[in-house]
Amino acid sequence: MNILFNETTKTFHLFNEDISYLMTVLRNGQIGHLYFGKKIHHKEDFSYLLETAYRPMTSYVFEDDRQFSLEHIKQEYGLYGTTDFRHPAVEIQQANGSTVSDFQYKDYEIMEGKPKLAGLPATYTESSKEALTLIIRLEDPLTHVILELSYTIFARGGIIARSARITNGGDSDIQLTRAMSLCLDLPDCDYEWIQFSGAWSRERHMKVRRMEQGITAIDSIRGNSSHNHNPFIVLQRPGTKEEQGEAIGFSLIYSGNFLAQAQVDAHDVTRVLLGIHPSHFSWKLDPGQSFQTPEAVMVYSCQGLGTMSRTFHNLYRKRLARGYWRDRERPILNNNWEATYFDFTEEKLVSIAAKAKECGVELFVLDDGWFGERSDDHAGLGDWVPNLTRLPGGIAGLAQKIEDMDMKFGLWFEPEMVNKDSDLYRSHPDWIIRTPGRHTSHGRSQYVLDFSRNEVVDCIYQMMAKLLTEAKISYIKWDMNRSITECYSAALPPDRQGEVFHRYILGVYDLYERLTAAFPHVLFESCASGGGRFDPGMLYYAPQGWASDDSDAVERLKIQYGTSFCYPISSIGSHVSVVPNHQVYRNTPLHTRANVAYFGTFGYELDLNKLTEKEQEAVKSQIAFMKKYRRLIQFGDFYRLSSPFEKNVTAWMCVSRDKRQAIIGWYRVLNGVNQPYSRLRLHGLLPDMPYRILVDGIERKERCWGDELMYLGLVTSDGTSGEVPTDIVPPCDFDSRIYLLEAVEEKGERT
Ligand code: DGJ
Repeated sequence: MNILFNETTKTFHLFNEDISYLMTVLRNGQIGHLYFGKKIHHKEDFSYLLETAYRPMTSYVFEDDRQFSLEHIKQEYGLYGTTDFRHPAVEIQQANGSTVSDFQYKDYEIMEGKPKLAGLPATYTESSKEALTLIIRLEDPLTHVILELSYTIFARGGIIARSARITNGGDSDIQLTRAMSLCLDLPDCDYEWIQFSGAWSRERHMKVRRMEQGITAIDSIRGNSSHNHNPFIVLQRPGTKEEQGEAIGFSLIYSGNFLAQAQVDAHDVTRVLLGIHPSHFSWKLDPGQSFQTPEAVMVYSCQGLGTMSRTFHNLYRKRLARGYWRDRERPILNNNWEATYFDFTEEKLVSIAAKAKECGVELFVLDDGWFGERSDDHAGLGDWVPNLTRLPGGIAGLAQKIEDMDMKFGLWFEPEMVNKDSDLYRSHPDWIIRTPGRHTSHGRSQYVLDFSRNEVVDCIYQMMAKLLTEAKISYIKWDMNRSITECYSAALPPDRQGEVFHRYILGVYDLYERLTAAFPHVLFESCASGGGRFDPGMLYYAPQGWASDDSDAVERLKIQYGTSFCYPISSIGSHVSVVPNHQVYRNTPLHTRANVAYFGTFGYELDLNKLTEKEQEAVKSQIAFMKKYRRLIQFGDFYRLSSPFEKNVTAWMCVSRDKRQAIIGWYRVLNGVNQPYSRLRLHGLLPDMPYRILVDGIERKERCWGDELMYLGLVTSDGTSGEVPTDIVPPCDFDSRIYLLEAVEEKGERT
């Protein structure tokens, strides 16, 4: 890894063994983009890459030069109004009303490691040798606004992390109305755009489309990153597959309003922009003040989508997630939500917990309904004190009972919300987000607390910290169940109302930071009506997130498959729930529900007392199985093998770091008859190593070489192909299997 700068040609070259990133100072002082892709040889001058053709109907910067038009030059951080007509990366409203900026190169700095972004989640380094950071400083000669573009290249993998910082170095106020985290001009448009979109209970479905001249975009202006779109896109070359072809993933480490956009111009140049959504955003900078954008991460892969995903997984698991739980196997939990909803007593909870303990569960989680006057969703949010009618011993008493069973205790909060029927609202009706003089809309009878105000965050912190100090709480599920409407803060002046959405998210991060610092052993799981805020920003504080309120195993195939493109398996909250399923009323076999939930954090969302004895025995085996293999699943290398968006069969696998062990999840939605004989090509194994194969715990007679399993494939045929082998139970709809591969001790002799 290195960052080279040539003083004569003013060219920067960031590179490691996988990638090169090239840019140069242009004749007008702006920074031009030259290349991002597979590593190339270093040269001192790449300026021949700059486009210099004369084109009619454009505009030129210099009187003596009919070639220098920014419209036709690829840039690092595009500006509008000085001959570039594409959407810009930054826009600043100045004292005289002008929005034209002109940032010119001043100097640069290279440092080992990676500086923190104050108040914002971001990737980090643990040793200065892990990464190099380049900061390029530019200044607008008229307004003296300073722009700092930051680029971090990591020692390994195709990763570049970027952000921008804008400082008002002038002597009048300015309004920042757009400040993207990333702008990347790619030389052509021969890409397919992939997004991960959906809605509540069908989050992160993979959607692919061809790009054309014009704009392709996804966004959120809901206040949360949202169920509808994830702040992550991929551009892939047509024909790219899991293990071959070129792809670039773009991920924003942010949990609020965002825009991800690709604009293909008239000459097929593709400009990617990623950052805070400029709509409903402005930020006033008094002289001397700065604004730091969130971080965006780009991952380039020339070995397909699988390598891109594994690069994100490694980075986000080890250098975005933090703290005590980062590298630890996740406890198997039993959450009472789908078991009881609001209808519980302490006695009922203890009986659910006792059965869970008997089956091997490690953590019992009490969900919504334990506080204030909450008996349904109309009251109580904001009053984070236990309801002693329901829980006579309070949370401390219940937690102690669970601890006495030798289990850990976890608790649900929704810190950002308040019901009008609550003591908190009665004391502070002005603490909610609402626009003066206008009707205030609700969501699930709840209102959003104005987390842009420190006193609001302080008050919630005090209530939560008191409980965490008094009771033995080992886990917190942090929920968030509505988006923001009538956005306005009573605490800010009119010219700062455009700051509310971002200040709100900074308040959320602040509360997370304070709680995780004060209670470092507590495991946090983020949640927003399921996966409404499943994003890298949350991952910095909460190493796992509830992926979706949809707990049906078949629905979860698409949700978890889509989620895996960016997020590590250790971050995906996944549980076994009852049938008929509460969201889609589908009956799936218990083994399939577990086989899907294994590929995540794993747990149960039901009352195990209500299962038959035979099912309870099966649950005991599932938990024992997960305890044995969770390190491999949660911290191994993940490979997608067959897509639920394309096929009736979904398959994926996790391979241990030494490649001697692998686990494959295989799922078939509908049963078939007289089907083709099928093989599944595996990945990531040692070609020269013989493996024993266990199918649902039963060892197959034959052993196979790693190369056999990867190039020829694992035979997955069953009774649907004509006969039922004696060692497998007959196939059914919503069927699934777990295959385990274990390297045979002695290295095999090859012939
Ligand atoms: C939405 C969450 O996604 C559910 O798991 C549950 O915690 C409910 N909220 C509780 O209100």
